[in-house]
Amino acid sequence: MSELQIIDLGVETSGKQVLSGVNLRVKSGEVHVLMGPNGAGKTTFANALFGHYRYKVTSGQILIDGKDITDLSTFEKARAGLAFLMQEPPEIPGVTVENILLTALGATRPSGNRETYMSEKVSALAAKLDINSALLERGVNTDASGGEKKRLEALQLCCLPPKFAVLDELDSGLDVDALKKVSTAVKDLVDAKSPTGKAGAGMGVIVVTHYNRVLEYLPADKVHLLIDGKIVETGDASLVDQVEAKGYGPWLAGS
Ligand SMILES: Nc1ncnc2c1ncn2[C@@H]1O[C@H](COP(=O)(O)OP(=O)(O)OP(=O)(O)O)[C@@H](O)[C@H]1O
Ligand SMILES: [Mg+2]
Repeated sequence: MSELQIIDLGVETSGKQVLSGVNLRVKSGEVHVLMGPNGAGKTTFANALFGHYRYKVTSGQILIDGKDITDLSTFEKARAGLAFLMQEPPEIPGVTVENILLTALGATRPSGNRETYMSEKVSALAAKLDINSALLERGVNTDASGGEKKRLEALQLCCLPPKFAVLDELDSGLDVDALKKVSTAVKDLVDAKSPTGKAGAGMGVIVVTHYNRVLEYLPADKVHLLIDGKIVETGDASLVDQVEAKGYGPWLAGS
């Protein structure tokens, strides 16, 4: 069982204070949903968590299992067990998904036949996510459609499951069938048991979304409303239905 703790996080970008006093506590196997109007600071939160150079943490701490990772570089944060699925995944021509996964899986499985392991594991997961094998041989996300990019991101997540993941608008660009496949694959990681068969050892996730569709397959343990850079309410899944029914008006008025 691991725990990601975000304590009193404040973030500034381009001289603007976007987030202040954000507190969040996510345990292994939990699904937290972060909702809020456009421009509320959700992507800023994800970028700051990952140490994007344009987003400066002005206060607070990020801890995994009590270890302060706030000032670590992005790759060190990834090593500590954090992953980030971007709202708009970038194209990386010249580096294929196969290259990335082979290198990363090789680093985590230094012995044995890496190529066989990789091709078996990746093929099985690609099939589960309905990813055409030709996409794996192209530069990462290069000339891929919006939905294909999200599936490729999900494939990387499934191949190298982290302790915690932030999924920024996982549902954007995915058709209904793809949304079901991708969310179900993420749910499998959330429900994963420890090697000794213990429950509650799966990935903890923070899902940023505008809609409740994704939660049909990935039920939320907690829902947080981020308005104007602050978490103004935390509740259960019924909070998503309230937002769907009333919009953000009632919370905007009080913020
Ligand atoms: N690098 C930046 N430079 C200047 N302003 C920025 C930068 N990044 C974010 N902002 C501003 O900070 C605010 C929060 O942006 P952010 O992308 O975090 O919103 P969001 O909640 O993810 O919105 P959406 O739902 O539209 O994705 C916005 O007003 C945005 O214009
Ligand atoms: Mg965003």
